[in-house]
Amino acid sequence: MISKIGVIGAGQMGTGISHVCALAGFEVRLTDVSQDVLDKGMGVIGHNMTRQVRRGLISDEDKAAGLGRIHPAVGMEQFGDCDLVVEAATEDEKVKRQILSDLCPHLSPECVLASNTSSISITRLGASTDRPGKFIGMHFMNPVPLMKLVELIRGIATNEDTYQLTRVVVEKLEKTSVPSEDFPAFIVNRILMPMINEAVYTLYEGVGSVEAIDNAMRLGANHPMGPLELADFVGLDTVLAIMQVLYEGLADSKYRPCPLLVKYVEAGWLGRKTGRGFYDYAGETPVPTR
Ligand SMILES: NC(=O)c1ccc[n+]([C@@H]2O[C@H](COP(=O)([O-])OP(=O)(O)OC[C@H]3O[C@@H](n4cnc5c(N)ncnc54)[C@H](O)[C@@H]3O)[C@@H](O)[C@H]2O)c1
Repeated sequence: MISKIGVIGAGQMGTGISHVCALAGFEVRLTDVSQDVLDKGMGVIGHNMTRQVRRGLISDEDKAAGLGRIHPAVGMEQFGDCDLVVEAATEDEKVKRQILSDLCPHLSPECVLASNTSSISITRLGASTDRPGKFIGMHFMNPVPLMKLVELIRGIATNEDTYQLTRVVVEKLEKTSVPSEDFPAFIVNRILMPMINEAVYTLYEGVGSVEAIDNAMRLGANHPMGPLELADFVGLDTVLAIMQVLYEGLADSKYRPCPLLVKYVEAGWLGRKTGRGFYDYAGETPVPTR
């Protein structure tokens, strides 16, 4: 039985995963690189739970109990009694490998380890741990409290018990899991990220403006968000990292990241999280930056 879940990374995804796990009754241990980032992350979780209270989705008591179940602290020592740890740090294989190697010595032998990576090989990440059989991809979608899907990705060594255990956790979170084979970017991002990258090419080549491209896809393809708006929401660094994994992993030029996307990331224009990407978020309503 799973009762304690560890979460590594208190960014967009780590806060969302902690939020839903705590509301589902799990004790959550949350870490990041500094107390400052953790404080900010806890602020985000509190804010998002308040929004759920306002909408009548949870009660004030649920919120208080949920927040009380999340224990933020810097360092890996706190994960010793966890049954499951989900790594949700920056989409960079080197960073994730370092985290996994720092983390493993602190885990109990029974602990299952999952990565929320959007694109990196689960087989390769698993092989860098002391428990490839108990390593799996648990790919939550953003924003986690709203999105119903979790992709479950088995590496070549992942055992059946690990898959079944994470499948049950997903059910307890009232979400739906979809199994995906371990190929670069799995199912959702294999399809979604090339579309976003193509939207950036459409902008780069002057086919349409930011507003025209987003309106075209919202109204013409019935997408709830335009692709550039969505890119800003995901984080342009994450979009670029996923395209690089697709480009290198599948060795096909159709996945070449758009040079304009590279330029935005080099400028530090990462989308909503830095206040500027394809849109500027300083004012009341987002304004296109080109
Ligand atoms: N953004 C999305 O839409 C989305 C969706 C699904 C999955 N993901 C995946 O989730 C993961 C996190 O993405 P995000 O959007 O939350 O990114 P983010 O930039 O919002 O957060 C990443 C967090 O990881 C922390 N971090 C970096 N190195 C660390 C370390 N050594 N120890 C502890 N924490 C560390 C950073 O300080 C940061 O707070 C990535 O693997 C990403 O691909 C993202």
